[in-house]
Amino acid sequence: MLALIPSVEPSERASVGQSANSVKTELQSEYDAAMSALSTGPTAESLDVTLPGVPPVVGGLHVTRQTMYEIQCIFATMGFTVFESNEVETDEYNFQLLNIPPEHPSRDMWDTMYLEEGQVLRTHTSPGQIRAMQRFHPEPIRIILPGRCYRYEAIDASHESILFQVEGLAIGTGITLASLKGVFEAFARQFFGKDRGVRFRGHYFPFTEPSVEIDISCNCEGRGCPVCKGTGWLELSGGGMVHPIVLENGGYDPAEVTGFAFGMGADRAAMLKHNIEDIRLLYTNDLRFLEQFT
Ligand code: DAH
Repeated sequence: MLALIPSVEPSERASVGQSANSVKTELQSEYDAAMSALSTGPTAESLDVTLPGVPPVVGGLHVTRQTMYEIQCIFATMGFTVFESNEVETDEYNFQLLNIPPEHPSRDMWDTMYLEEGQVLRTHTSPGQIRAMQRFHPEPIRIILPGRCYRYEAIDASHESILFQVEGLAIGTGITLASLKGVFEAFARQFFGKDRGVRFRGHYFPFTEPSVEIDISCNCEGRGCPVCKGTGWLELSGGGMVHPIVLENGGYDPAEVTGFAFGMGADRAAMLKHNIEDIRLLYTNDLRFLEQFT
């Protein structure tokens, strides 16, 4: 406006100049006030230091991960160290070296996701047994092998295509099925509570002989709760004495050493401990569910 004043009719120049100037003065003073308010920062009136703060959102470990760590800690007290192994395995390690030749009917126990060139997504943590044996022989072994496994499953409340297992392996002199039972009982008492018992049921796995399924006693003590379907027992793990052929494949002499092995579902352990009825809850990342365990 000020720049346009020379083009205004001479008779109106004075009054146009006056109003333009007063607008300019007003804007300038508003601007100066705003600038000085910014540079002095919040005043005692504008900042209430007694207001509660906004808590930051803190993450937490997933309940399955917590369970795996807890299992690791308990076995650590019995001298087991953690050994981790590949998730992408070869058919040879996932099956053949575990005494499961091609076309063996027991392959039906694992619905397998096959990759290219003889590779598979490991269906269980057991191939890590072979890798550990080949690495450590002829030394004695006491390890647990935690990890993710993959299966081509029809998904329902108790089956997922991704699952976590914790495998155990002990090799040395004088190891018997009783050693497995003692170790497992000690584990179950620490993990589930001191009144829990363990029971072995005869079973078949190609890589152990004899083979067992390991059950823990149910909290209801056999009174017939829906979790144990009235049996009083809950299935937790497979296990047995390492098959001589598997010992040999790992580089050990079955005439000199024996070993026990087990493989338990970590998801299953978490579900039993926290009364979670559907495995899918562990994989759908619903914060309302997950936050109960942080
Ligand atoms: N690998 C078996 C499975 O996924 C579980 C298992 C059974 C592991 C017996 C073992 C064992 O080490 O000795 O079903």
